[in-house]
Amino acid sequence: MIKNLFFIAIVGGIITCACSKISSRKQDEARIERRVDSVLKLMTLEEKIGQLTLFTSDYDVTGPTLRENYKEDIKAGKVGAIFNAYGVDYVRQLQRMAVEETRLGIPLIFGYDVIHGHRTIFPISLGESASWDTAMVRKAAQIAAIEATAEGLNWTFAPMVDIARDPRWGRISEGAGEDVFLGKCMAEARVKGFQGRRLDDPKTLVACAKHFAAYGAAQAGRDYHTVDISERTLREVYLPPFKAAVDAGVGTFMTSFNETAGVPSTGNRFLLTDVLRNEWGFKGFVVTDYTSINEMVAHGFAKNEKEAGELAINAGVDMDMQGAVYYNYLKKSIEEGKVSMATVDEAVRRILRIKFKLGLFDNPYLYCDNNREKYEVMTQEHLDFARNMARKSIVLLKNEKQILPLSKEIKTLAVIGPLADNRRELLGSWSAAGNWTQAITILEGIRNAVSSSTKILYARGCNIHDDTTLYIAEAVNKSRQADAVILVIGEAHWMSGEAASRSDLGLPGVQQQLADAIMAVGKPVIAVLLSGRPLTITKLSEQTTALLAAWFPGTMAGPAVADVIFGDYNPSAKLPVTFPRNVGQIPIYYCMKNTGRPMDPDNKYTSKYLDIPNTPLFPFGFGLSYTSFEYSDLQLSQTILKASDTLQVRVKVKNTGKYSGEETVQMYVRDLVGSVTRPVKELKGFKKVYLNPGEEQVVAFKLTARDLSFWDIHMNFTHEPGEFKVFVGGDSEHCLEMGFVLE
Ligand code: BGC
Repeated sequence: MIKNLFFIAIVGGIITCACSKISSRKQDEARIERRVDSVLKLMTLEEKIGQLTLFTSDYDVTGPTLRENYKEDIKAGKVGAIFNAYGVDYVRQLQRMAVEETRLGIPLIFGYDVIHGHRTIFPISLGESASWDTAMVRKAAQIAAIEATAEGLNWTFAPMVDIARDPRWGRISEGAGEDVFLGKCMAEARVKGFQGRRLDDPKTLVACAKHFAAYGAAQAGRDYHTVDISERTLREVYLPPFKAAVDAGVGTFMTSFNETAGVPSTGNRFLLTDVLRNEWGFKGFVVTDYTSINEMVAHGFAKNEKEAGELAINAGVDMDMQGAVYYNYLKKSIEEGKVSMATVDEAVRRILRIKFKLGLFDNPYLYCDNNREKYEVMTQEHLDFARNMARKSIVLLKNEKQILPLSKEIKTLAVIGPLADNRRELLGSWSAAGNWTQAITILEGIRNAVSSSTKILYARGCNIHDDTTLYIAEAVNKSRQADAVILVIGEAHWMSGEAASRSDLGLPGVQQQLADAIMAVGKPVIAVLLSGRPLTITKLSEQTTALLAAWFPGTMAGPAVADVIFGDYNPSAKLPVTFPRNVGQIPIYYCMKNTGRPMDPDNKYTSKYLDIPNTPLFPFGFGLSYTSFEYSDLQLSQTILKASDTLQVRVKVKNTGKYSGEETVQMYVRDLVGSVTRPVKELKGFKKVYLNPGEEQVVAFKLTARDLSFWDIHMNFTHEPGEFKVFVGGDSEHCLEMGFVLE
């Protein structure tokens, strides 16, 4: 009947749009609504179900590929979106099938996991978050969007905004860490970076906030495991970064694999409809995670896939990722009256709306530009940025006797460890289309940085995760000949990310044994730790002279690590997550509750362990610099506050060391008494200041009653009068503090 519907949609658009060239956002939206309705009216039920269906191409998969004939499905109009397909020619070929070979010619969306870079890979998301630099993180997402759209993509399954307080969970590497406030800031930065100002700008991607919700609270840190938390914890800890993503305009949401309090997220109407749409006003579409509708059968929540599909769509799931449940059963469910046509129409509307916003109806090949693919990927500018992003993510955890920065003139330097001359691991998990062969190793970075007279002695020492001790002797021998040793150790890239939970967070394999042997030589040792999570490195941290947490730094790992070691960059990163002393302390995070028996070392019957202190190895917010910062003169504009007042908090920060450097000034608050108990500290603000030696600056924050609000005993989000403390410092443990009263 009607071929190439998008053409009709364009004409409709031009006519409506002709009245005013610069239409306001509202007019834009009204126009899109009309166009969506005009398409919807023409669609058969089969075509509608097609729009609700997302299949993977055979390029790259993260789970079982259920359908091999996805191309036939596209031509039959049975698919609305494809993921894991990129490269302009390939995308164009698939898009052409949808546009030219289906009855209505509705264009496809192309999704992919563009998490921390597309071709140019930045540090893993946890590492980026350690920069506490929202402008940089936003820019990283923007560059990722430029590269991904240059290769035909227009939808990313990012940002992952799950709060994670259990480092056994491998996916802690994909998020912003343990804290709600930092998590909100990173969620906003990433959504804005990916999406830019307009989705129809061909250099922007529509983002997807995932995994909704509470996926990071998996019991015992085991991936996909059960979550059972109170609604208060859900709302206070796990939901705020998602809300921040909605407020930043995120276009799509992804459900999580887990259940919460007995209800799998993909069938959770409370989450997907009551909270997400009715409370937060989210207008985009919700996609499942990979086959998570089908998995509701294994959860024991649905008796078969058909019923699982009904639960999902009635809960508020619009698009089925790879499960083919809507594809196989939705028509029958409608015929049986289990799902209403109005529900299906609404889901289709939400998906078409995003397609219009992406500009796909006006030009289905908007993201298919061979020139862009040639010239806008892995440019020098992107690589330079990646180097800067990586060095801003490296946390200096120890620097005894100010051993760092090392002189580039050092005579002999031993570079030891299984990750020193390793390229494969540098990109970390979810490195999208990143090509690890293009990454620069840490050994190469060091060789390029030192003077021509410096002698570098390299030895692998051991492998990442087997028990071969054969190579340790050579490493010891080389260390003996050196003035200092750089020991590059840690995890392999596959040890974090999805389905990568660990029960032992020590250094894998015989790496600690290697470290012991190297330390016994007695030379200064600089340990560079690569990992997707905090590791329990208590022994290493005591033995080593200096310690850097470099996460997985990405394509430019080598130059970035060398910049930090030799002082071309003065480290400024701060931990976005607590480092535990041992696994038995987990979950351990800074904003815990006080308990009725707070720890007292002289009283056995208080909340503590017999065998280990309560304190972490390194606290949240911690990170050293080559210079030192002194905090003084904390001032509050008033000590008695009305609910309508804004409290000004000021502190002086002085660079008292020898190097220029950047400090992240952190402000925490404690509500001393509440209708429900409150954490001992909660981050409420942070600011970065760059100070030259001797320079001092006043850093100011504001606090309003809203910042002091929480979910009270009646589950109202409100503030309560009473006493508060405000803390300001360079990490969550070392702060100046003052009190105030909210009337
Ligand atoms: C992951 C998601 C990812 C999806 C698509 C799933 O296994 O949980 O985070 O976006 O695969 O690749």
